[in-house]
Amino acid sequence: MNAPMLPPIALKAKPPRRRHDFPAVRGRDLAGVPGRRGLPLLGILPEAVLDPLAFARRMHARYGPVHRFRACGNWNVQLVGAEANRFVLLDEAGNFSAEGGWRPVFGRHFDGGLLLRDGADHQWHRKLVATAFRQEQLQAYLGAFDRNHAALARRWSGDTLDVYELAQQLTFANGYSAFLGRDPALATRQDLLAFRYLMRSAVALVTVPLPGTAEARALWAKGHVRRLIAPLLAAPDDPARTDLLASLCRMRDAGLLDEAEVLAHLTFVIAAAFDALSSATVSTLHYLAADPAWQDAVREELRAAIPDPDGMTLEGVRACDKAEWAVKEALRLNAAAPVLWRRSVRRFAFAGHDFPAGTITGVNPMLTHLLPSLWERPDAYDPGRFSPERSRGRDRFAFVPFGGGAHGCLGANFAYLQVRALLRRLLDRHALVPASAVPPRWHHWPNCRPRGPLPILLRPLS
Ligand code: HEM
Repeated sequence: MNAPMLPPIALKAKPPRRRHDFPAVRGRDLAGVPGRRGLPLLGILPEAVLDPLAFARRMHARYGPVHRFRACGNWNVQLVGAEANRFVLLDEAGNFSAEGGWRPVFGRHFDGGLLLRDGADHQWHRKLVATAFRQEQLQAYLGAFDRNHAALARRWSGDTLDVYELAQQLTFANGYSAFLGRDPALATRQDLLAFRYLMRSAVALVTVPLPGTAEARALWAKGHVRRLIAPLLAAPDDPARTDLLASLCRMRDAGLLDEAEVLAHLTFVIAAAFDALSSATVSTLHYLAADPAWQDAVREELRAAIPDPDGMTLEGVRACDKAEWAVKEALRLNAAAPVLWRRSVRRFAFAGHDFPAGTITGVNPMLTHLLPSLWERPDAYDPGRFSPERSRGRDRFAFVPFGGGAHGCLGANFAYLQVRALLRRLLDRHALVPASAVPPRWHHWPNCRPRGPLPILLRPLS
């Protein structure tokens, strides 16, 4: 397929990158907001890290949808519910900075990524990165995904697998093809570990790289990623390439990006895709394995819409609504991105409370997706709730696994595509069967994942 040298995008002059200085917010600045301080120094951190969902539920039950807590010396505010999601994510009044909210989490290793940019600078960069997720690219990625999926399905047929490990390997292989334009057979275990370590360091309690800490592993990972990507940036342009790296290099060659920006976008997109998509994949496989009736319904739909998986098309995959509902329901029960952070650049008011400039503000998809006021039988797995009939009247901001507004996920279509394409391959000749009677326990931060292995048998269908 021939891609244009540079996609047609209307760009103004490159805006400067602006970083806000935030005033510290003291407890008395939030005096009317209910909540608690927690332990000296650490605040509520130990309980929030131990079980983020249980912590969020407790805080909501005790203090209501607008509350505060202290973590690592800072007061944080949580705004829970559909209206809160709309208010913060759409941010029509320009109250919030994503860079300020995410800086403590991603700032050390993903500086320059899209979530660490605001305003005109963010829009400018987002337009460029988005050109790698257009229809023609997605169609090209689909072919690469399917080759990877088919190889994995063959290799693991009849085996009992830890599906989190499978999801990570597969997502990484797909990312290697789609983002770097490389044959995933060239990917090493160290490449995968590097991206895993970078993401996990986002929630490191110790940010000094002492030996054996997550931060030390992240520093190694950063060097590894740089050594992996630098030679690829120097490769001559092949106009047939549709991957993200090739697109960004063309923009560099046209003077739109510098080399450091290309590296920052690549690193952030690969990491953002890798962990969140692994999370969505493992949750989808788990819930379908546990619900044979839905598994059969999804299998039938996929076979009917895509009779020949070797000739998978975007239209065929997109026609599979039930498969999409299965992914959505898995993301509702296990939000892959549980809390989204912002920091206020000015004073704002919400739900009768006033908040000063500098307030670290989180919205909580994980909890919103489980609120009994928004969802019938919220803890039940019921993909049919996403059918058009049953979605009617539901607030759009009740379901925000991909966020929304200016920073809404760029990879949502990519994610639905990958998981449905995987299901087409896996379910065609196999049944997913839970291999443990013990239900998995999930850990919800930084992305939702099972605590420990999650074994599923890939049983060949007769
Ligand atoms: C099921 C999988 C995924 C989930 C649940 C997810 C979730 C999210 C969420 C919630 C945000 C917004 C964060 C915020 O507003 O603070 C986001 C942003 C982003 N995601 Fe995803 N994501 C997924 C997969 C992907 C994939 C596959 C890619 C790349 C192909 C990707 C690339 C991005 C990028 C670049 C941003 C930043 C956008 C911006 O700041 O303008 N994500 N994602």
